[in-house]
Amino acid sequence: MPSDTMPNIGGVIFDLDGVIVDTAQFHYTAWKTLAKQWNYELKINDNEQLKGVSRKDSVAKIAAWAGVQPTTAELHDVATRKNKLYLELCAKLTPNDILPGIANLIEELKENHIKVALGSASKNARFVIEKLGLESTFDVILDGNDVSHSKPNPEVFIKAAAQMKLSQQNCVVIEDAPAGIQAAISAQMLAVGLGDVAELHQADLVLPNAIDLTLSKLKQLYQQIVI
Ligand code: BG6
Ligand code: MG
Repeated sequence: MPSDTMPNIGGVIFDLDGVIVDTAQFHYTAWKTLAKQWNYELKINDNEQLKGVSRKDSVAKIAAWAGVQPTTAELHDVATRKNKLYLELCAKLTPNDILPGIANLIEELKENHIKVALGSASKNARFVIEKLGLESTFDVILDGNDVSHSKPNPEVFIKAAAQMKLSQQNCVVIEDAPAGIQAAISAQMLAVGLGDVAELHQADLVLPNAIDLTLSKLKQLYQQIVI
């Protein structure tokens, strides 16, 4: 097939927490504080299982680990107080907190007319993006306010592709969480994991961070796996 008629990457969908900025530590600190009210010492391994998971689902998981059965109103109250703490921690974010390699990759994609989307489970995504000075960067922003099903459900990525007016198969997802990689696979998108290969082994490619993640690397992977 001549190269100009070959299917190609049309858009890249970035997860936010753990991909663009290291807010996982803020989520952890805030949940750990709240879990204490149920006499539960939240561990770092627990936090791994909360990555990519919505606030509502996270609070339910923590209650189950703590062996408590709170009312719906109490679950809501804990989630609200966690969010207040989380936002206080996020208030100090600046553009210097954008993780290494991300700004360069986004710039390279835009120079090459590849669409750039945000696909986050967080309802605070727009606030965080503004703190990072990235509010005008994305062609499309989909966050926890725009979906009814949280990752690993692929809804957020499917909607992002539709809003970019791209086929799902022409999109690449960059994720740090197993739930996000699963969502990308279910959406039939190329899945790039940033983080620990043992956790993200289902991804098509896993790198420790985005420093060496370039458009040519993504294209090479796409040619190998999708075409
Ligand atoms: C994800 C985080 O991006 O967003 C999860 O990885 C978090 O840890 C989820 O629970 C929802 O975020 P928020 O900001 O709406 O509570
Ligand atoms: Mg994430």
